[in-house]
Order: sequence, then C-alpha cells, then structure tokens
Amino acid sequence: MAKTVVIASNNAHKVSEIAHALNFEGWEFRSLKQLGLDCDPAEDAETFAGNSRIKALAAHAASGGLAALADDSGLMVDALDGAPGVYSARYAGEPCDDGANNAKLLRELADVPDDARTARFACALTFIDEDGSETCAFGTVEGRIGHKPVGDGGFGYDPLFWPDVFEGRCTMAQVSQSEKALVSHRGNALRQLKGKLSQ
Ligand code: IMP
Repeated sequence: MAKTVVIASNNAHKVSEIAHALNFEGWEFRSLKQLGLDCDPAEDAETFAGNSRIKALAAHAASGGLAALADDSGLMVDALDGAPGVYSARYAGEPCDDGANNAKLLRELADVPDDARTARFACALTFIDEDGSETCAFGTVEGRIGHKPVGDGGFGYDPLFWPDVFEGRCTMAQVSQSEKALVSHRGNALRQLKGKLSQ
C-alpha cells in the first residue's frame, strides 16, 4: 500500500538523497513545499537530535498526521570545542551564507596546526510514523579542515572538509553526490535508520 512521507525540508538535494536511501516498497516522499505546507518551527534545541525532533513533530502535525522525517546536521571542529555545531548554518550570522561561514571558520583556525584541525560532520534523523511512534538515527564522518576552499561541488563546508576515508586525495566538494552519500554523515544516518525501520 502506498505511504506518503513528508520530509521536513525544502532542500531538493536532501529529498532525493532520502528517497534514494529509504527505497521501501510503496513509500512516496514529498517535501513540505510539494504538499503546500508552511512549517518553519524555531530550531532552538542544543543538539542535532533535539532539532531534528522539533522539525519532524512540526511536519507530522502540519500534515495532519502523515509519517514525517526530519534531519539536522552540522560541523563540529575539535579545536573550537565542537563549534559551529548546531549553529553551523548561521555561524557567520543571518541569513545563511556558505562563503561567509567558510571564511569565518578559516579565520578561527588561522593559528591551528594541521594535526589539530580534526573535525566531523554529524547528522541526526527523526522519523515519526502515522501512529506517532518515533525512530531516531545518527551518523558522522571524520575528517580535517583545510586551509582554503577546494572543489565546487556539494554545499556548506564541503570545500574545506577533507574526509579521512579519502586519505588526502580530495575534499567533500570534489566527489559526486553518490560518492558523498557512501561516506557522509547523512548517508550513514540514513543507512542506520533504514536498518531500524526494517526490523
Ligand atoms: P541543515 O541541517 O540543513 O540545517 O544544515 C546545517 C548546516 O550544516 C548547513 O547549512 C551547512 O553549513 C552544514 N552542513 C550540514 N551538512 C553538510 C554537508 O553535507 N556538507 C557541508 N556542510 C554541511
């Protein structure tokens, strides 16, 4: 039987990545915009998991009880005690500006040597089913922050992020969307969620 899942995001890239990862028979994914819903709750939790739950609950309610899925993600830099963390999108202020965020990150790390530039992307997912039951998942990808932007793919901090798994060959902005999904925080969280929902 067909099941509509509302994704609490209007980012087309995320909607297609999620639909590709959670390819359960009969599931159809729709963004808020596709369903004509206006839903923009304050993301004021202190954790990625808390913010993803706020977004999923709001989408579940706004859609009149459809199954809902939300993600919240960001970058955590060890030399900055985990910043920018849940403030990743607005690190350099509002409105969200990837170039300004990257420039600020490079300024903050100007005096930090290579071996101390360790960081990770993190992604929390919250799925709320029609009956209100909640399933959470979490994924990370480890890497290092470079000294200048490299690559023009991806978004956000991708041009500064050198994933450990690529062993210094490329940044997250130099790989295809499908290569990124194989190693990324969001890809890892989606694989964990798929496993939990399959049980
Ligand atoms: P959100 O979860 O879409 O609100 O993302 C929060 C912010 O974290 C984004 O605006 C980016 O700055 C950063 N971010 C999250 N995921 C990624 C990623 O895959 N690559 C680069 N930056 C990311």
